[in-house]
Amino acid sequence: MRFLGRVLFITGAGSGLGRATARLFAAEGAKVFGVDVNGAGLAETVAAIRTAGGVADSAVCDVGSMAAVRAAVDAAVGAFGGVDILVNAAGIGRSARLEEIDEEEWQRVLTVNLTGAFNTVKAALPHLLARPGGAVVNVASSAGMRGQAYAAHYAASKAGLVNFTRSIALEFASRGLRINCLAPAGIRSPLIQHFIPREDFEKQLVAYYSPPLPHQLADPADMAKAIAYLASDDAKMVVGAVLVADWGTLA
Ligand SMILES: NC(=O)c1ccc[n+]([C@@H]2O[C@H](COP(=O)([O-])OP(=O)(O)OC[C@H]3O[C@@H](n4cnc5c(N)ncnc54)[C@H](O)[C@@H]3O)[C@@H](O)[C@H]2O)c1
Repeated sequence: MRFLGRVLFITGAGSGLGRATARLFAAEGAKVFGVDVNGAGLAETVAAIRTAGGVADSAVCDVGSMAAVRAAVDAAVGAFGGVDILVNAAGIGRSARLEEIDEEEWQRVLTVNLTGAFNTVKAALPHLLARPGGAVVNVASSAGMRGQAYAAHYAASKAGLVNFTRSIALEFASRGLRINCLAPAGIRSPLIQHFIPREDFEKQLVAYYSPPLPHQLADPADMAKAIAYLASDDAKMVVGAVLVADWGTLA
């Protein structure tokens, strides 16, 4: 029960890693406020937590909209009295050649994956600083740690998220707010369906971002444990870190 009495605000809670993380934190005592654009997925997550005896509420929210994020944070504070932990798990992307990525798609990926985290951090900040033990975990990607062919928009957004995380980790370390990020590789979730390598991709470039044991995918519930570690007091000395959980892809 590492999160007893704590409030988690989590984006992307309607699916995959966000849902698994919401469930794990609730099982460890947190009151969970989830947001997502997928209202049906969100309702499933909340129902699963409540069925298991946990406490959860939610709001449909596009993290790309500062106004929507501020309203969701206000709703979380109204429901549970504050925000102690922020997890940014909302994310979008797909494999595509640069020629196939138009300005609109480029902008949307940057807006959700990078500006979304800026928006939630800005909106939740006064609450995260108001009580001791505040923590932020941003979900980046191994694609944010070096170049990834056929996902330039996604990789750029995640690299931005990594250095956003490090920069604000420095700014808030002296005020007791720990900020870290997780860099996973393949997770068994709906998103991975958009990243299946294509026949027309150069094989050596696909190999460059593949793990030593091919086709290895993490269970979202296992990956959620890495987020829980970073957010917990077990990681009290971990600040501005990028926890790579990629089956050795970057090794
Ligand atoms: N699946 C992988 O292999 C993998 C690998 C590395 C990193 N990641 C990252 O992990 C995180 C979780 O991904 P996942 O694999 O669980 O994918 P997922 O598609 O299962 O879940 C992502 C969730 O984000 C939500 N979302 C999308 N746009 C949103 C928006 N504008 N506002 C609010 N919510 C929005 C989606 O509706 C969805 O419920 C993402 O940030 C992703 O980039 C995933």
